[in-house]
This record gives sequence, C-alpha cells and structure tokens, in this order.
Amino acid sequence: MNITPLSKQFIDQEALYGALNYHPIPVVLSKGKGAFVWDVDGKRYFDFLSAYSAVNQGHCHPKIVQALVDQAQTLCLTSRAFYNDCLGPYEELITKLFGYQRVLAMNSGAEAVETALKLSRRWGYVRKNIPENQAIIVGCAGNFHGRTISVVSLSTDPGSFSGFGPLTPGLVTIPYNNTSALERVLEEKGQNIAAFLIEPIQGEAGVFMPDEGYLKRCAQLCKKHNVLFVVDEIQTGIARTGKMLCCDHEEVRPDIVLLGKALSGGVLPVSAILADDDVMLTIKPGEHGSTFGGFPLACRVAVAALSVVTEEKLADRAQYLGEIFRRELKKIDSPMVELVRGKGLLNAIVIKPHNGKEAWDVCIRMAELGLIAKPTHKHIIRFAPPLVITEEELLQAVEIIKTAIETV
Ligand SMILES: Cc1ncc(COP(=O)(O)O)c(C=O)c1O
Repeated sequence: MNITPLSKQFIDQEALYGALNYHPIPVVLSKGKGAFVWDVDGKRYFDFLSAYSAVNQGHCHPKIVQALVDQAQTLCLTSRAFYNDCLGPYEELITKLFGYQRVLAMNSGAEAVETALKLSRRWGYVRKNIPENQAIIVGCAGNFHGRTISVVSLSTDPGSFSGFGPLTPGLVTIPYNNTSALERVLEEKGQNIAAFLIEPIQGEAGVFMPDEGYLKRCAQLCKKHNVLFVVDEIQTGIARTGKMLCCDHEEVRPDIVLLGKALSGGVLPVSAILADDDVMLTIKPGEHGSTFGGFPLACRVAVAALSVVTEEKLADRAQYLGEIFRRELKKIDSPMVELVRGKGLLNAIVIKPHNGKEAWDVCIRMAELGLIAKPTHKHIIRFAPPLVITEEELLQAVEIIKTAIETV
C-alpha cells in the first residue's frame, strides 16, 4: 500500500511516542461525514468499521454535534456531587426507551461491564443470600467485554489476559451457544451464581451468532435458577442488528442491559447500565461512581444520539440494508470467501487464505480501493458501516469488496 509522506509522518509519530497497543491499517484519517471518512491527503473511504459500531448515526451527525457544541458552551462537567439539569432528562428518556426502571451512567464500555459485575455480585449477596465473597459470575468462551483486569479475567483469549495476572477470582466461562453447558453449571453451582453475562452476538470473536432460540433459553434457565441474565449490547445495541437491542429479535428482556459506543453516536465515551429497582437499588450512595459518569455534556449528546436513532428509523434501515448486503456478498464467487454471516448491519466474511493472501491483505486492498475495515482474528473481516449509509452507497461498497477479494 502506498503510504504518502504526510501519512507516514503521523504513523511514525505514533510509533515513536505512543504505546504500541494497536496494529492499525495504515490510513491516517482527518475528517468524517455520514458513512465516509477522509485521510490527510483528501482520499475518501467508506467506513466499514464505524469505530467498532460506535458511529451508527454516521460521522459528525449535525444534530449530535449541535447538542455537543451547545452544551459545551453552557456546562460540561459538574461531577455527581451536585445535580445538573441534563442527567434527569437523559435518565428518563433512556429508561423509557428501553423499558427499565433505572439507569446507571458510566463512560466506557469496559466500565459498564465492570459496573455490571459489581452490581451482580452485590445483588447476589443482598438479594440471593450468597455467602460472603463466594459469588460466581458465568461468562462465555470467546467473549469480548473490554480490557480492565476483571473483564479480561473472564476472557478466554490469551492475548487479552496472559501476563496480567493475578486475575479476578469468581469468574467462570462455559462454551457459547451451548444451553446444556449453562444448565450444567447452573445445576452444579447455581446457588452461588449471581449472573450470567453474554453478548447476543460475539462481535470481536468474528460476528459469531448463536442459534435461534439460544438467548431465550438462556434467559429461562437464569430465571429458573434465580441468576441475573446480563446482556452486553455495547456493540450489538442501538439499532446495529436491525432492532434497538439484539435481544429484541428473540423478545428476551435481560435483567441488566449494557450499552456504550453508539449511545453517543461516537462523539464521546458514554455507557449505561439498565436494570430495575430490585437490582439497581442494591448499590447505595457512595458505593459506586465516576467523576464523568452522567456528565452534562454526555447526557445532552446521548439524548441527541438516541433521538437520531429513532427519528431516522435506523433499526429498520439496518434490518433492510443488512439483507441486501448479505445477499450481495454471497454472490461473490471466490475461493477466499468461506462464509458470510451477520444480522442487520453487523456482518462478517470468513476468509480462507489463498495464494498466501489472508484477511489482512484483503483489508489493505480494500483500503487502496477506498473502503476501510479491519480483520477480527486472523481470518475474519467484520463489516459494520454507519447505519445512515444509503442503499446506493452500500452497493458501491459491495463492488469495492468484491474487486478487492478478486484482485488481492
Ligand atoms: C461487546 C463489547 N463489550 C464491551 C466492549 C468494551 O468497550 P470499550 O472499548 O468502550 O471499553 C466492547 C468493545 O469493543 C464490546 O464489543
């Protein structure tokens, strides 16, 4: 890939002064609008990652940016030591929209997951009477819930947890998409299990989708064993898969829902934990918090970001465009395309290496042709464009993907 001197300057600067905890595709972006981003040399790309599904509403959505600017000029941060006039309206909107009694406002996705772990343990002790310090939280193999110590303690990917021990105890993993495994662990250890934490589709694992009915059965089993069913919708939520929540496809109502990413339209780190009184009120004043959690700027932005999703019917768009996208991708006749899968506009191609070329090479070729995406694991490319992409743009993007695979 041809890297211009201007791009190289920024790439080298990061290599010299930054922590080397990422391995980016070598494009240097400086502008975004809707479904597109531009690099420092003015070249335009279709954005098919959307910052890992944070930019569902499209880059720099005018309504969200306006809310950000208005609020930034008025009041940014108060801390929760005082009330502010943005948090309450946001709390009312988000709880009514998703049908929960309460919300706890945090910032990053990993923080939302951490909060859910704490909340689940607390509920386990005070409501379920689990003996002190013996609460167990069950997760799934192949999960990705973020990067903090407790969250990586639940990971089964050595790249996430090895070398970071000692890990947090009280966390157990079972195979994903396997209700017998869940039933077994609940029967063996159910009395001490506070929660079962799950992604409705495993995004980072490569848009790995469980069988139909899996989430519903998990919810039933959790109910039977008095275990909280906690669903991480940080990547799948906010219309990405064709419904407001991915769980809605199976009409499942989790005990705790986690949101992040597109909750701000990619403008600020904003995350949320939704639950009812019975769970949420087990945490008392002073027992959890964050300086920025629920700050006025975030609340105004989140209200705007959620309004855009409903006003522009982005869930319906994702559903409609997703069907077209998968149908068109499946027409690509190449030995490299092993499988196309996904829901709404969260999709992936499983790439079979061919003539020494693999998913990374396809991504580089796509970038050359004007579309950016990134492999997740060695052999899978996730495609998650902003949901505001038009049908015409989507079809143009498919042509680029097709050409890239054919000419890599
Ligand atoms: C399902 C899921 N949960 C949690 C996270 C962590 O979010 P953050 O990177 O904002 O901490 C991610 C990030 O990709 C995610 O996909």
